[in-house]
Amino acid sequence: MRVKVPAFAKLNLDLRVLHKRPDGYHELRTIFQTISLKDTLTIEFERARQTELTLDSAIEIPDNLVLRAARAVLNELKISARIHFRLEKRIPMGAGLGGGSSDAASVLLALPALAGKQIEIGELSRIAASLGSDVPFFLYGGTALGLGRGTELYPLPDLPPLSAVVVATGVHVSTAEAYRALNRPVRGDVSTKVTTALTSADELRILGEFQTIAWEVGCARPGQLAFRNDFEAPVFINHPGLALLVKKLRRLGAEPARMTGSGSAIFGMFSSQKKAQSAALRLGTEIASPVRFLPRAQYLAIWQRALGMTAAPRRSAR
Ligand code: C5P
Repeated sequence: MRVKVPAFAKLNLDLRVLHKRPDGYHELRTIFQTISLKDTLTIEFERARQTELTLDSAIEIPDNLVLRAARAVLNELKISARIHFRLEKRIPMGAGLGGGSSDAASVLLALPALAGKQIEIGELSRIAASLGSDVPFFLYGGTALGLGRGTELYPLPDLPPLSAVVVATGVHVSTAEAYRALNRPVRGDVSTKVTTALTSADELRILGEFQTIAWEVGCARPGQLAFRNDFEAPVFINHPGLALLVKKLRRLGAEPARMTGSGSAIFGMFSSQKKAQSAALRLGTEIASPVRFLPRAQYLAIWQRALGMTAAPRRSAR
């Protein structure tokens, strides 16, 4: 059996990092949004006595999440199979666009359908979270609120297919280093002394601001929003060119313009696709792509078309 499935990119429209938790992850608040930019994964699948996984990609992919996701699904289904993946990469890597995470989620969605089986969505989310903090979001897509590590997800009303430009300069930011550079205090562990700047009062203020943003997004008024990304300050110090790009996007009419995830891709929202296209041309199509927000209904419909109706994530009966 052979299928061709998409792996869409995401933006963090807003991203705030609160404190470091005793488990080493940071507590965050974010608003995720899937966009039309995508990788394509072709999967050839056959049941076999012994598992054999191969991946063909023009780009060398370190710590490959596609193969790890495949092993996790086979393990969960208690089956063995010969699977060949061909990955056509369009989403820049190490850019905060969730490319690797989305590739992994696509494997989690596709393999059970190819095996003629189902994994209940709660279980699939648990497997997704074990692969990476951004992976669970791609099981759902659309506009969503991410809490905790970013793996606790709640749907927000879908934003319409708004126009945006994504600019990826090739600057690679390590997510773990970006978190370290924030130097957030550890909370939730009484044995640790809190020494850094962010106080409980700061957190309350940040939470208040984030709540306002989430309500505004829920009311579909993103154009008027003062989105924020806590990673911008530390990342822009090391890469001042990125701050200039944000300014350039704003001069070209983007409102708002921000970095996504821990960087380094920048996005700007535009009032029309025509304006987004002309801004992308001005910035240079080698680094800038016009995209559209991809609402959840469309995201799931594309998946259902790719795999047949049974492939949509299934809610627990519990
Ligand atoms: O979960 P993921 O593998 O994507 O995370 C990569 C790294 O980013 C983690 O090892 C951790 O250092 C950091 N991280 C974090 N808090 C989060 C998510 C990621 O500190 N909420």
